[in-house]
Amino acid sequence: MKRTKQKQINIGIVGCGYWGPNLLRNFRSLSGCHVKWACDKDSKRLSYVRQLYPEIKTTDDFDTLVNDPELHAVCIATPVWSHFELARMSLEAGKHTFVEKPMASNTAQCRELVNLADRKDMILMTGHTFIYSAPVRRIKEIIHSGDIGKILYISSQRMNLGLFQTDINTAWDLAPHDISIILYILDIPVTSVNCQGKAHINTGIEDVTNMSLLFTNGEFATVQNSWLDPNKVRRMTFVGSRRMILYDDNEPLEKIKIYDKRVEVPPHYDTFAEFHYSYHYGDLYVPYIKQVEPLKVQCEHFLDCIRTGQEPLSSGTDGLHVVEILEAASESLKRDGAKVAISELTQQTRNLQTKKYAAV
Ligand SMILES: NC(=O)c1ccc[n+]([C@@H]2O[C@H](COP(=O)([O-])OP(=O)(O)OC[C@H]3O[C@@H](n4cnc5c(N)ncnc54)[C@H](O)[C@@H]3O)[C@@H](O)[C@H]2O)c1
Repeated sequence: MKRTKQKQINIGIVGCGYWGPNLLRNFRSLSGCHVKWACDKDSKRLSYVRQLYPEIKTTDDFDTLVNDPELHAVCIATPVWSHFELARMSLEAGKHTFVEKPMASNTAQCRELVNLADRKDMILMTGHTFIYSAPVRRIKEIIHSGDIGKILYISSQRMNLGLFQTDINTAWDLAPHDISIILYILDIPVTSVNCQGKAHINTGIEDVTNMSLLFTNGEFATVQNSWLDPNKVRRMTFVGSRRMILYDDNEPLEKIKIYDKRVEVPPHYDTFAEFHYSYHYGDLYVPYIKQVEPLKVQCEHFLDCIRTGQEPLSSGTDGLHVVEILEAASESLKRDGAKVAISELTQQTRNLQTKKYAAV
């Protein structure tokens, strides 16, 4: 992977709606990073950026930004339907490219971006923000230390009232977070997906979805997403054979709770009277977690990858795997929740990529 040797990385942010300004603020706060351009089709959003950061150049024309020879990297925070074309242009122009989640609208587009980045020797990273968060990293450490035993299942709920999108359903909007967290923690690919859902507000755009993911080693996860819930819910449960972890991202301090709870089935019994489950109720442990803004860690990681040529933790291939799970979920929705397998072809692409980067 080509390294960018310049001490200062010049970056342009495209899309300054709800999320773009958060990326802009974080990149701007990092040393060795110069946010040179902000681009948006909407002049009001550009006025907003100019008012906050008068030193940043603004344009409503992506060509102007992407053709600036001084620019090393582009960060795309526009609606999902526009990701592919903007990312393609950015990589073609020889810019390291960060694309918000989900990486593109379908797997064919994701594959094209992964191959293009490879051909051009450019970093392609996607915005799976939560894998850069301290609680998620701690959960991965705890699970991989063997402390909670064998993972039996994971359940994830991400729900709130709105924001209703018009180009994607609630699964494509919210589930990239749940899926990327689960993939990061388990570190094994998904083999099949079931999804059911319903569109209550906008015809054809599901505002409630329930997804089940099956993994190569038989592990199982459920992901529930909704734009029609009175409360903001950001909750994941990791059920292990020895202990259970509850992760509530809405908790200001105690985001992770480890419950020493389990159920044991006696290995053998002769009469029904001898049979009983053994429920274990032990301590509750709340690990201390130092709070750092995940977005800042994510932006810093993108710059590090540009400088060192290392493969991002949320690489183009990871973006592709999340999108293929979403695509399988959409297919399952059409077939009333039927099981949809993840294509073997993609699994092969994934293995190849893993091998390739393991060798760098
Ligand atoms: N990682 C996260 O936690 C997180 C959180 C929220 C949103 N997002 C992602 O960020 C992206 C943007 O979401 P949002 O909520 O900010 O959307 P938004 O609609 O609020 O903002 C998008 C902006 O892009 C501009 N735009 C559209 N097409 C453009 C083009 N061709 N050139 C320049 N500007 C263009 C629009 O004018 C708008 O201002 C989405 O992919 C979303 O999934 C990620």
